[in-house]
Amino acid sequence: MSISLSKLACSIGDSPTLKINAKARALKAAGEPVVHLGGGEPTYPAPQAAVEAIIQKAQSRKIKYTPSSGTPELKAAVLDYTRKYYARQYEPANVIISAGAKQALFNFLLAAVDPGDEVIFPAPYWVSYPEMIHMAGGTPVIVRGGGKGLEVNVADILKAVTPKTKVILINSPCNPSGQIYSEEFIKTIVEFAEQKNIFLVMDDIYHQLVFDGKKTPNPCAYAKEAKNLVIINGVSKLYGLTGLRIGWAVCAHKELIGAMGRMQAQSTSCNCDLSEVAAAAALKGDQRCVADLCRILQENRDVLLQEAAKIPYIRVEKPAGTFYSFIDFSHYNADSNALAQYLLEKALVAVVPGVSFGAEGYLRISYCADQASIIEGMRRIRWALDKNAPKEIKIGDKLLTRD
Ligand SMILES: Cc1ncc(COP(=O)(O)O)c(C=O)c1O
Repeated sequence: MSISLSKLACSIGDSPTLKINAKARALKAAGEPVVHLGGGEPTYPAPQAAVEAIIQKAQSRKIKYTPSSGTPELKAAVLDYTRKYYARQYEPANVIISAGAKQALFNFLLAAVDPGDEVIFPAPYWVSYPEMIHMAGGTPVIVRGGGKGLEVNVADILKAVTPKTKVILINSPCNPSGQIYSEEFIKTIVEFAEQKNIFLVMDDIYHQLVFDGKKTPNPCAYAKEAKNLVIINGVSKLYGLTGLRIGWAVCAHKELIGAMGRMQAQSTSCNCDLSEVAAAAALKGDQRCVADLCRILQENRDVLLQEAAKIPYIRVEKPAGTFYSFIDFSHYNADSNALAQYLLEKALVAVVPGVSFGAEGYLRISYCADQASIIEGMRRIRWALDKNAPKEIKIGDKLLTRD
C-alpha cells in the first residue's frame, strides 16, 4: 500500500496551458513539425539592460539571499513604475516582489482568504484562478455574461456579491479573450469594492500590451484611500522575461503586504538575486522595447485575424490587447478538449481548449509566435476542419492525414 497524498494535492489539477506546452515541446523534441499556438510568452529577446545586469551580478560572484519581500532597488523601480502608469505614490512597505505575478497573487489569496470566503471573477478567466483560490481554501464564484457572446457586464458581477464575498478579481486586458474592460466598468467596480470593503485585485499583467492606440483604464483614478485595491503586475509579459520569475503586488494596505511577505518568507524565503537585479534593470532601462513588442503583437494579431477570416463558421472578436485570441469553434466541435486534441494529433498544431478558461466550445490561439507560424498553424487548422479538403497534406517530408 502506498502512502496517501493530501486531500489538497488530490483536488488540484494540472495547469492545462503548461500541460499543452509540455506536450507540444515533447512532440517537437521527437522531431515532429509542431506549430505551437498555445503559448503564453512572447518570443521577443530579453532587453539588453536585463542581460547586462545579470552578467555583471554573476561576475561579482555574490549571489545570495535577498530581503524577503524584494530588494530596495527593485522596489524603488516598481514604485516609479506605479507612479508613472497609475499616478499613485506608494512606499516600499506597500510593495512585495514575488516569483512572478502568480506567486504575488497566491500570497495575496493566502493572506486574505479564509475557508468559505468567496472570490468573484468573470469568465473567461485565466486557468489558474479557480485552482489557486481552492488551494487558499476559498470558493471561486464565476460570473458569466448573460448575452450571446462572452461579455460580462459590471451589473452581472455586482449581482454575484454576497456577505461572503471577500475578493473581486479582474484581469484586464483578459487572458484569454484579449478584451479590455471599459472605463465605466472599472470605475463602477473600484468605487463599489472600496465602499463595500471588498478586496479588488487587478491582475494587470497585460496592461501595457494593448493595440490600436487603446489604453487600459487606470483603477487608481477612481480609488480614494484604496486600502482594498491590490495591483498585480510583473516583467513576464511586458519584456518577455517569463524566465526571470519576477512579479509584484502593490497595495495601500501595509498590513496586507506584510502578511503576504510572511507567506513568502516562510515558503520561498526570497526571490532569485540575479532575477531581481535583471528586473530592476529592465524597468529602469529603455522602454522602447515595450512599444516595439506591442507593434509586433498588433501585426501578429492582424495576421491571425486575416487567417481566421478564411475559416467559415467560427466567431472571432478582435482582441484589444494581450497576445491571445479566443475563438468560438463550437460549430465544428462543442467539446474544446476533444477539438484541441484532434488538432494536435492530426494537424500538429497546439492550441488551448476554451473549457479550461471557463468557456466551452472556444479555443485560445496565441499570436506571440512568429508570423510564419501563425499563418502555417491557421492553414493547418483550416485544412483539418474542412470536410472538402484533401484528406492528406504534406508538411516538409511528413504526410499528415486527417479524419
Ligand atoms: C492573467 C495572468 N495573470 C498572471 C500570470 C502570471 O504571470 P507570471 O509569469 O508573472 O507569474 C499570467 C501568466 O500567464 C496570466 O496570464
